[in-house]
Amino acid sequence: MTRSIDTVLDAADSALRTLFARPHATRPLPPPTEPPEELNPAERRHAGALMRVNHVGEICAQALYTAQAAVARDPAVRADLLAAAAEETDHLAWTQARLDALGARASLLNPLWYAGAFALGLVAGRLGDAISLGFVAETERQVEAHLDGHLGRLPAGDAASRAVVTQMKLDEARHAAQAWSAGAAQLPAWARAMMRLAGRVMTTVAHRI
Ligand SMILES: [Fe+2]
Ligand SMILES: [Fe+2]
Repeated sequence: MTRSIDTVLDAADSALRTLFARPHATRPLPPPTEPPEELNPAERRHAGALMRVNHVGEICAQALYTAQAAVARDPAVRADLLAAAAEETDHLAWTQARLDALGARASLLNPLWYAGAFALGLVAGRLGDAISLGFVAETERQVEAHLDGHLGRLPAGDAASRAVVTQMKLDEARHAAQAWSAGAAQLPAWARAMMRLAGRVMTTVAHRI
């Protein structure tokens, strides 16, 4: 009982912090490898929209990891999920920093994205630790592919955003590898296809709103 009350309080605390507090990165903002160039207004808008999508992805990552940790059965799995969530906080802070620098705003639908992802995380978590880890591995694989696409779409002069996306891509690949080595089960093809579809809806909407 105490654990479930603690878990609910932790989850509520994490939701409020993710949505309304300024995230604190434990690692510095990844530095650009080449000098950033001045972006024209259209390039800024385009880069801002892409980074808003990535920021929403990180809001969802917080929600998923928090929910999955809350219902994980094995304490070691729970600790791994919380450790990954902490690293995702860097991503949240970095994407927020890029939004600020580009003069773009975060998605207006963030509370909705958070709630949806949290519900999904609870379902995945309830299906058992192996499936839950399989969900992490597949999510991270899809996110990594998505970020790779953004590296080609970001304006050529936006070396600062590209540096952030590059480091995030490396981290997501590591999160997937960690989930596999912690005992992830491969999800069925239909589940992976549904996740791709959900990801496409999210990225399309967050690009605008
Ligand atoms: Fe991330
Ligand atoms: Fe990740």
